[in-house]
Amino acid sequence: MSRRELKAVVHHLRVYLEHQKGIGALGSVPATAEAREQFEALVAMRRKQEIKRLQASLHGDSAPAPQGRPAPQTASARPEPQQQQQPPQREPMPRPSFMDQGSSKKKKDVPPPEINSGGSPLWKQLGARPESIFKKSASKPEQPAAKRSAPVDPREQERPPRSQPEPARHAGPAFKEVRRQDSRPPSKRPQPKPRANSLFGEEWDRQNRPSSPPVKGFDSSPEQVRRLETMTNMEKLSFLRECMGDCTRCKLSQERTNIVFGDGDPNAEIVFVGEGPGFHEDKQGIPFVGKAGQLLNKMIFAMGIEREDVYIANVVKCRPPGNRDPAPDEIRMCSPFLYKQLETLQPRVIITLGRFASQCLLDTKRSMGSMRGRWQDWRGVEVMPTYHPAYLLRNPESKREAWKDLQMVMEKLDLKGR
Ligand code: URA
Repeated sequence: MSRRELKAVVHHLRVYLEHQKGIGALGSVPATAEAREQFEALVAMRRKQEIKRLQASLHGDSAPAPQGRPAPQTASARPEPQQQQQPPQREPMPRPSFMDQGSSKKKKDVPPPEINSGGSPLWKQLGARPESIFKKSASKPEQPAAKRSAPVDPREQERPPRSQPEPARHAGPAFKEVRRQDSRPPSKRPQPKPRANSLFGEEWDRQNRPSSPPVKGFDSSPEQVRRLETMTNMEKLSFLRECMGDCTRCKLSQERTNIVFGDGDPNAEIVFVGEGPGFHEDKQGIPFVGKAGQLLNKMIFAMGIEREDVYIANVVKCRPPGNRDPAPDEIRMCSPFLYKQLETLQPRVIITLGRFASQCLLDTKRSMGSMRGRWQDWRGVEVMPTYHPAYLLRNPESKREAWKDLQMVMEKLDLKGR
């Protein structure tokens, strides 16, 4: 065994032992239900504190940055071309330290920071030995391990579908009739405030959203629309992916390795829209897995949610060679799939990442500086344009503006203070 291999083994052993220590694992000694409950409450509380600390650090508090070795920089980010000059900001904010490159750990190697922050194992602090402390909290269903390989989130199989078939009520474009009625168990989140600019209420707005032109095979005939009405969001997204097939609609198909359709919760309230896959996304078939993706994950976590809670898609589903901007004909061929994804998801907020995605979705030539930080509208869905994480990697001083944009989303969705 080479010295390097030996080092790697020692490192992994160390991570494993840390993790074991963190979860208070002591062989198979069982814990009482009470101890486990207490432990889970403590873990939840510490997680909340950690999020608060991250958020506080954005306001320039002197909270220490998360400890950890730098995240492996394995991926290239799509360059964000020609970002516009920023207008002067109202309140200057310090550079958000949590977004600093190299401050995160790779999720799967790393024990939860709040559990492993040193000192005695938590079961000792609790006065009991939890049996399997590292179990997920009872309030969150177990996630299937193979989730990443699927284009859509298999969690929906464990949840009641959000969309229920409903009789058609309006004339007009067919897809509009596929309505969402939330049949999930009541969320613990506070209920949304009514939209200030909604004349007849949010429900009316949702019902009367204009829809995009049909996609052949998906919603281009009354039968297909009827079929869609019986499907869950996950089924609709899978069906849409099926309709896309081994796409050769544009020349991007010639050099791609994988179609990067989208990833995340089919019932997400927040959808992030990027430009198009980069090198690593093309190789893996999953959006935002490179360096920009790592930063996006941190931004999502700082909002008090996790990547699994949102949906992520791109304007074009195949990598433009050399990470060039997608051409107009490529956007024309591909964007209907994004529109159908968004109409299926019917999120409360769309966050467009970067100038390209913002201009495409909002069908405008406006500058990033004039769009970001201001609510926009896409067919009745609120849109918050913000900087692309790849741009933020090159211009870290803009992270504070991006954080302001995300805070506006958090405010709207009542995520603040969670
Ligand atoms: N940049 C994007 O716009 N999309 C990705 O999926 C990755 C990088």
